[in-house]
Amino acid sequence: MAAAMWARVSSLLLLLLPFAATPSRAATPARSPPAYTAVFQLQGDVYPTGHFYVTMNIGNPAKPYFLDVDTGSDLTWLQCDAPCQSCNKVPHPLYRPTKNRLIPCADSLCTALHSELSSNNKCPSPQQCDYQIKYSDSASSQGVLINDNFSLPLGKSSIICPGLSFGCGYNQQVGKNGAVQAPTDGMLGLGRGSVSLVSQLKQQGITKNVIGHCLSTNGGGFLFFGDDIVPTSRVTWVPMAQSTSGDYYSPGSGTLYFDRRSLGLKPMEVVFDSGSTYTYFTAQPYQAVVSALKGDLSKSLKQVSDPNLPLCWKGNKAFNSVFDVKKEFKSLFLSFASAKNAVMEIPPENYLIVTKNGNVCLGILDGMVAKLNFNIIGDITMQDQMVIYDNEKTQLGWVRGACSRSSKSTMSSFP
Ligand SMILES: *[C@@H]1O[C@H](CO)[C@@H](O)[C@H](O)[C@H]1NC(C)=O
Repeated sequence: MAAAMWARVSSLLLLLLPFAATPSRAATPARSPPAYTAVFQLQGDVYPTGHFYVTMNIGNPAKPYFLDVDTGSDLTWLQCDAPCQSCNKVPHPLYRPTKNRLIPCADSLCTALHSELSSNNKCPSPQQCDYQIKYSDSASSQGVLINDNFSLPLGKSSIICPGLSFGCGYNQQVGKNGAVQAPTDGMLGLGRGSVSLVSQLKQQGITKNVIGHCLSTNGGGFLFFGDDIVPTSRVTWVPMAQSTSGDYYSPGSGTLYFDRRSLGLKPMEVVFDSGSTYTYFTAQPYQAVVSALKGDLSKSLKQVSDPNLPLCWKGNKAFNSVFDVKKEFKSLFLSFASAKNAVMEIPPENYLIVTKNGNVCLGILDGMVAKLNFNIIGDITMQDQMVIYDNEKTQLGWVRGACSRSSKSTMSSFP
């Protein structure tokens, strides 16, 4: 698992990060509509961290936890002292479940969770909802569904603390028991299912079921629940498609171009997954991109082996950032037939990284190696644009803009 850092898809993972807790402030009572928007600052980056995560304050009194933002799965969960059978070393003290807040087996969220998790999930006892979740990189977590209060910042100094259901994970299989340092305390599941945190917020009339993120190429960025800060113009919208590869967020099938030149590929189904650090293409588009890039490469770049990613090049001098080498590469484009002029440009900084060794590496990976049979648009490709998952209107949107500044000043860079 640790060896395949770059092959991570929607999972918890393994790097030490600095501690930065945001304390919660005074509570403001909230009632029914109009729905609110909650905005969170993000930390992390594509490289070297491999995650974008949010600090979520949970419990009563609230304590901070780092949660990996994952639009590719539904269940939010924390490594949990229930007591813990197998937990990683996590950034904060293990979450302790509040007494009497177990979700019973008969609860509709338990039924929904069990039907979303394909493996034979069932309840050994009616008082609680046991589950086991597996991720595509073969990490897994076993736990019980519980309910506790989440502090959600609603702008200014107002905070709302709804009770939300999530997993208390007491048996994680990632690396050796306890030996592995995880960079986050758990996952923030923002998928399409009813267990998803934003589905629950919608159910309680708190926010609309709209999620947006803005991941910065400088690291950090912001995340929001609700639709107040979705720009009213310039956003490219496409209808959400029924993904054949599960209940993922999919803009449907797109045709891939290299520098506006056709690669002669059939339209490919893609999904958006913030839990995936890199982008994954199936065999044909992957090979087509690699040969197009190699055929177009300047003589100053030489292929080199780098432990970080499978395909890397070095220049005459070590690169400091992808912006040093961007001019040597061209943009890819994904053009979606499901809406007019729906094109996602993928400029070099959305498919390349520069490693600590000063090499430039391709951040589009061969899905075959990760045993994937569909295409994933991961964090690297979603950077420096606001990506909006609108479950109210069942559409997905994107608009380019700077994500590095505070959410407030960034908002003004989106018309
Ligand atoms: C915590 O959540 C419960 C259940 O939704 C709710 O009744 C309670 O008021 C919440 N506590 C606070 C401090 O908001």
